[in-house]
Amino acid sequence: MKISKIFALLSVILPLATGAAYAASASENWDNGCAKCHAADGSGSTKIGKKLKLKDYTDAQVQAGLKDEEMAKAIKEGVTENGKERMKGFKDELSDAEINDLVAYIRALKK
Ligand code: HEC
Repeated sequence: MKISKIFALLSVILPLATGAAYAASASENWDNGCAKCHAADGSGSTKIGKKLKLKDYTDAQVQAGLKDEEMAKAIKEGVTENGKERMKGFKDELSDAEINDLVAYIRALKK
C-alpha cells in the first residue's frame, strides 16, 4: 500500500478511534460558511464584505466593542436591520457548540 493511502486511511480511522463526535471544526465552518463575506482573516475585505460594510474582526477596537453573547446570537439568529436580513442565521446548520467555537475563532482573528 502506498504511504499516501495509509495516511488517508489513518485520517479517517483516527478521529473515529478517538471517539470524536462529528462536528466540523470552527476553521472549516468559517472557511465554508463565513469567509465569503467576512474574509478568511475576518477583515471583511471581500467584495461582498466591502459592499456590506462589514466590521473588521482583526481590529482590536472592533473586538473590544463585541460581546460574546451578541456574536453567538448573531450567528444563530442572523442579523437584520430595518427589517432587512443582512446575514442569515445558522441555527439550522450549526450546533450551539459549533457556534461557540466560531465565537472563539473570531476572537482569535484579532491582530
Ligand atoms: C452574506 C454575507 C455573510 C455571511 C455568509 C456571514 N455573515 Fe456575519 N455578518 C454579515 C453582516 C452584513 C453582518 C452585520 C454587519 C457587521 O456586523 O459587520 C454580520 C454580522 C456578524 C456578526 C455580528 C457581530 C456583532 O456586531 O455582534 C457575527 C459574530 C458574524 N457576522 C459572524 C458570522 C459567522 C460566524 C458566519 C458564518 C457561520 C457569518 N457571519 C456569515 C454578513 C455575513
